Amino acid sequence: MIECTINGETVRLDADPDMPLLWALRDLAGLTGTKFGCGIGLCGACTVHVGGRATRSCITPLKDVAGAHITTIEGLDADGEHPLQQTWRELQVPQCGYCQSGQIMQAAALLKDLPNPSDDDIDAVMTGNLCRCMTYPRIRGAIREAA
Ligand code: FES
Repeated sequence: MIECTINGETVRLDADPDMPLLWALRDLAGLTGTKFGCGIGLCGACTVHVGGRATRSCITPLKDVAGAHITTIEGLDADGEHPLQQTWRELQVPQCGYCQSGQIMQAAALLKDLPNPSDDDIDAVMTGNLCRCMTYPRIRGAIREAA
């Protein structure tokens, strides 16, 4: 049994401690906003926050998040809409949309650490989040706008 906090709620997950956090979120907690892309930590589609830090949930075993505070796209802003979600919508960033929750979670961690990032800062942090539709210029614009 692994106890942790997901989007502000304490949960107890009865699962194999080696189960990837991604599958616990999707299959046990029913939070399907976090996506599976590569499963090996290379694409960023599964990005969530663990203790406020951007984390690849596909390569994070449940045992590593015991007692941790986890935030998914569903809980990014408990009060409504995060500024990034607003700018994402206003600038019509997504195309197919599949990678976008991971993109927003990575960007939210960036803005928390660096509230006014340069384009180079944005590119350096976002480079590990892949988008097959090549929405990168709109992603950068939405992050700049939110900042
Ligand atoms: Fe986790 Fe690709 S699915 S990094």
